[in-house]
Amino acid sequence: MADHRIAWLGGDGIGPEVLAEGGKVLDALEVLEGFTTERVTYDLGGRRYLDTGEVLSEATLEELRAFDAIYLGAVGTPEVPPGVIERGLLLKLRFAFDQYINLRPVKLYPGVTSPIAGLTPADCDALVIRENTESVYAGAGGTLYGGTPHEVATQESVNTRHGVERCVRYAFEQARRRRGHLTLIHKTNVLTYAGGLWMRTFEEVGDAEFSDIERDYVHIDAACIYLVQDPARFDVVVTENLFGDIITDLAGAVQGGIGLAASANLDPTRRAPSMFEPVHGSAPDIVGTGRADPVAAVLSLGQLLDFLGEEAAARRIDAAVGALLTERAGQVPDGLRYSTGDVGDRLVELVQQD
Ligand code: IPM
Ligand code: MN
Repeated sequence: MADHRIAWLGGDGIGPEVLAEGGKVLDALEVLEGFTTERVTYDLGGRRYLDTGEVLSEATLEELRAFDAIYLGAVGTPEVPPGVIERGLLLKLRFAFDQYINLRPVKLYPGVTSPIAGLTPADCDALVIRENTESVYAGAGGTLYGGTPHEVATQESVNTRHGVERCVRYAFEQARRRRGHLTLIHKTNVLTYAGGLWMRTFEEVGDAEFSDIERDYVHIDAACIYLVQDPARFDVVVTENLFGDIITDLAGAVQGGIGLAASANLDPTRRAPSMFEPVHGSAPDIVGTGRADPVAAVLSLGQLLDFLGEEAAARRIDAAVGALLTERAGQVPDGLRYSTGDVGDRLVELVQQD
C-alpha cells in the first residue's frame, strides 16, 4: 500500500494541465525521497456538470473523505451560472471537510518582477491565514420579493467564537514559527459585531497563550495600501474569509502574478483530508495553448507534501521553483521560452539538484 493516497481533481480549464506538471514533479520526488503515492483521478467540475447534471454526489464526497489529501487544479467554466460549481463543489469540500484554514503564502521569489517598483524578496515574505468556513461564505441570507422593485437581498456574515478562535490560535502558532509578528485585518470601525468578536478573540488568545508574539491590527482598506506600499510590515496575517479572499488576489499581484500563488485548505486536526490548489482559476481563454504557468500548482504540491510530512520533498520544490524563476527572469509573457510542459520538465530536473 502506498504511503500517501491523493485524490487528483484536475477540474476545468487549465486545471488538468497544471496538475499534470505537478504529477511529473511528484514522480521525480518519490524516487528521490523514497516515498510512494496512490493517485486517484476524479472527474469533477463545470464540464462534468454540463455533461451529467451532477456537481458532487454524497457518495463521491464520502469517497474523498478517505484520502490523505486532495490536489485540485481549478473549477469553473463560463457556461455554468456563477455559484453552481463554486458553492456545490469547491466550498462544499472546504466546509464538509472542515478545512478551516486557508494558507496563502505571499513571497516574492528572486528573479520575479513585482509590479511594485523596487520591491525586493527581503521585503515581501508574508503568510496570509484566511478563515475558510465562515463569514459571508457560510451562505446565510436570502431574497424576498424577487424581481419586483422592492426586491430584498440579505447576505449575512456568520462568525462564531469557536471558528474565530481556532483560526486566530493557528495564526499565532504560525507567527511563532516565523518572525513572531501577527497582524489582524478586519473592519472593526464598521463591522462592529463581527469585528468586535475577532478583536476580542485576538487579544484574549494573544494575552493568554502568545505573549511572545507581537500583535498589530490594520483595517482592511488600509491593509490594501500597506500591501502595495510596504509589504515588509507583514509577517503573518490573519483575517476573515471574504477579506482574505480579496487581499490574497492583491497579494498575488504584488508577488508577481497569480500564476505563482499557492494555497492550502487545511483541516489542522487531520480528521478529514486537506486540499491544495493554485489560487488562479480555470483560465478558459488559454486552455490548450501551453501558456498556463504550472508554478502555483507545483508550489501547492509542495504545501501538500509538507503537510503529509514529506518536508524534504517540499524543500526541494521550493528550491527548484526559486531556481526556475531566476532562470526565466526577464521573459515577457507573450514570448515565453518555457511552455506549461517545459516548466514541468525543467522543474523535474531542478528538484534533483541539491
Ligand atoms: C478562491 C476563489 C474561491 C473563493 C471562489 C472560486 C469560490 O476565489 O479560492 O480564492 O472565493 O474562495
Ligand atoms: Mn479568490
